[in-house]
Amino acid sequence: MKLFKRFKSTGTGQPEALNPDDNQSLIDVRDRHFLPTALLYHQQPLQLTRAEGVYVWDQQGNRYLDCIGGIICISAGHNHPRVKQQLIGMLENNEIQHTSTLYLNRHPVELAEKLVAEAPEGLDRVSFTNSGSEANELAFMTARQATGETIIVNLRHAYHGGTAGTLAQCGHHTWRFRSQPVASTTSALEPYCYRCPFNQKPESCDLECASNVETTIQTTTHGKIAGMIVEPVMGVGGFISPPREYFERVTRIVHEHGGKYISDEVQTGAGRCGHEFLLTKELGIDADMITMAKGFGNGAAIGAVLMKSEDALALKGKMYFNTFAADPMQTAQARVTLEVIKEEKLSENALAMGARIMDGLRQLMKRHELIGDVRGRGLLLGMELVKDRKTKEHAVAETARLMDLCKDRGVLLGKGGLFGNVLRIGPPLTINAEQVDFLLEAIDQSLTEISGAAQG
Ligand SMILES: Cc1ncc(COP(=O)(O)O)c(C=O)c1O
Repeated sequence: MKLFKRFKSTGTGQPEALNPDDNQSLIDVRDRHFLPTALLYHQQPLQLTRAEGVYVWDQQGNRYLDCIGGIICISAGHNHPRVKQQLIGMLENNEIQHTSTLYLNRHPVELAEKLVAEAPEGLDRVSFTNSGSEANELAFMTARQATGETIIVNLRHAYHGGTAGTLAQCGHHTWRFRSQPVASTTSALEPYCYRCPFNQKPESCDLECASNVETTIQTTTHGKIAGMIVEPVMGVGGFISPPREYFERVTRIVHEHGGKYISDEVQTGAGRCGHEFLLTKELGIDADMITMAKGFGNGAAIGAVLMKSEDALALKGKMYFNTFAADPMQTAQARVTLEVIKEEKLSENALAMGARIMDGLRQLMKRHELIGDVRGRGLLLGMELVKDRKTKEHAVAETARLMDLCKDRGVLLGKGGLFGNVLRIGPPLTINAEQVDFLLEAIDQSLTEISGAAQG
């Protein structure tokens, strides 16, 4: 990842003109005008210009198998013909491109009806937002309004967005700002089996991580909470995937202390992790609210909060307005995406291809010492790299190198984890067996190259 660089001088006091075909030219202008928080993947950053299905192309026409999809945002595949047709049709018909929710429009209403049909029973109210962060902000406000309490419990290693309220719930020092006020939050220990904070083994533990939620409430709050926010698979944290029983115990604890359980499905939702559209429903998690974004819009900037009527009614009498939320184009794109995922049975494919990748990674683990753990659900899979399987020292540089080498072999991947040593695999749900095998081959060859370099 690169930060600021000085821009090239033309000798005239003027910066060089932007040349969009030249990556360095784009980097120079970015360095000049973007904030230093704007990071780029890869030693040689990539410019992506075209996309179709599971593939993306750079400006020079090189093709890549996209196994990260933005950051887990492409569900039905890039430029899916039905999504494209929907948007082109709307533009050709001069359909209204923007109107606020102060006017009626069919698209958000149609989407709401379809989404509620996929939700666990009782979650029959929905509010659309522009992002996952905004969805979580609204969920926090609703939980606080409904309970009259302020404290939201989060998990260490969690990520819920980049706004003030969501960053206050963030379990990564790397993402939090020094200026970040952290009020009315408390953190429970992470359900991270590979690095269990209680030094337990998953086969013999008593879910001490779940019990820790209760201890945290008892020791850091006045005993009542507004709610707790949990990702069913912790995305930015490196696809930490707690067992089903964890959620059973934690939801009970949250409810016993008067709180609302918020299931953050920004990464897991939209059919990526199970037969159901929402993993919360698949796992039978007793959630009061579910938040979504990313793959829900297949690339459109849209998020959503699903909640129960009783909690929604707690907001009555207040005004909540969000200028671009529930925009006709975005909601139409999300509705068609949802229809495609259901009609083309993409969740079934995600499960089958996810299992194929998982099997492949387990095979690779036998031959590559660098792989410390593989985990995840459906097409949300992580591979944690360690320098030594005993000490579990984070293999940070090796993970970045692996991403670069895979890119050179035509495969794009992401990374995550507190120290950036977890390779993240989250391709569109349309990936097929041949493409999975290509991905596994790229990882295998790249790992061999890394270990060869280490020995050589
Ligand atoms: C689990 C989770 N929640 C919330 C967010 C925030 O979503 P957005 O970036 O759309 O605001 C993210 C983003 O990565 C996420 O992974």
